[in-house]
Amino acid sequence: MSKTTLSWKDEVASRAEGLIGLRRDFHRHPELSMAERRTAGVIAERLQAAGLEVRTGSEATGAETAVVGILHGERPGRTIAWRADIDALPLNEIPDLPFKSAVPGAMHACGHDGHAAVAITMAEILAARRGELPGTAVFIFQPAEETLGGAQRMIEAGVLDDPPVEKVYGIHLTTLLPAGQVGVRPGPVMASSDFFEVEVKGSGGHGAYPHLSIDPITAASHILIGMQDLVSREIDPTQPAVMTIGEIKGGNRHNIIPETAIMRGSIRAFDQQVRDQLVERLGAYASRMARAYRAEARVTIGGQCCPAVVNPEDEAGHVHRCAAGEIGEEQVTAPPPVMGSDDMSLFLQARPGCYFWVGAAPADKPPAPHHHPAFELNEDSLAVGVRTGLAVMMGALAAP
Ligand code: NI
Repeated sequence: MSKTTLSWKDEVASRAEGLIGLRRDFHRHPELSMAERRTAGVIAERLQAAGLEVRTGSEATGAETAVVGILHGERPGRTIAWRADIDALPLNEIPDLPFKSAVPGAMHACGHDGHAAVAITMAEILAARRGELPGTAVFIFQPAEETLGGAQRMIEAGVLDDPPVEKVYGIHLTTLLPAGQVGVRPGPVMASSDFFEVEVKGSGGHGAYPHLSIDPITAASHILIGMQDLVSREIDPTQPAVMTIGEIKGGNRHNIIPETAIMRGSIRAFDQQVRDQLVERLGAYASRMARAYRAEARVTIGGQCCPAVVNPEDEAGHVHRCAAGEIGEEQVTAPPPVMGSDDMSLFLQARPGCYFWVGAAPADKPPAPHHHPAFELNEDSLAVGVRTGLAVMMGALAAP
């Protein structure tokens, strides 16, 4: 089967209304990480109706709200997975759209509603052509990407092992690219993410008698400022790295020196060695710095970690060729890597594959950032996602 001449344009165009309607349904009913019950229900129902073998529940998929759909083609071929994340964010949506979130405190502000709709539509189209489908397509609907916990659970539950998946692909919609474009790049494309907590323990007392106390706030402040020097003085300056403290808590009254101060933050990097170096040095640095102030510091690296998203050269090349064949070479770009994270990285650590961008910037206004309550998607992106996704999957399933 030819990889490049087969166009999905008409097939996808005939389903455009349903595709957009499905995305709007998810948008109207957003659900937070690990609480995607309705979303998972809709996905399972659609896949079942299309004739896929559907797996749900913790035992089979690793999470109560995960769904796996397996589609056996009638021709020989490979076993290839497509991964879509499905969770929303704890935000109150601002834009007054007809399909605005009906759930206070929850909003699809990253495009995962689109990811779910695109993947379902791909599965339905391939299911309708089962007779000419080579191999086995596995559709992985992952909960809890925003909290970076869903991928690991699904991998541990064996979703890549039964049937034995050879490669895994997926998209992220992005308002950093115009609708109609696809972005794909080999090498690191998204950063690793490590959550950490620094607890500084001093000895409390009256704010007027600091000499009788050990002030954890002053010690924490110095740790916070000096921490940036781990990046600027100890990491190769050609290697990107970020340390951010996003939360700092200590004390509850202006004239009381508290017992403890707590800071929480994240470390981002592309290179595994840089990541390991910062994680290791942060502990030693914080505890010695605290001791200089007679305090004690304990650093905990949290469980919500994931490595960088790295696309192998061959698989990124495959996506580039398939996307160019489908939407034209001039619409395929290679945007620079971003310091954001995505636990798709764990799937790509387990199997070769590629995670690529599908442009979704609004046509008529500057885009609001992802994770912003004014976030809006250009729905023209959905058909592009389905078309390129189908070309990528068919090419990989039919590969010799
Ligand atoms: Ni996202």
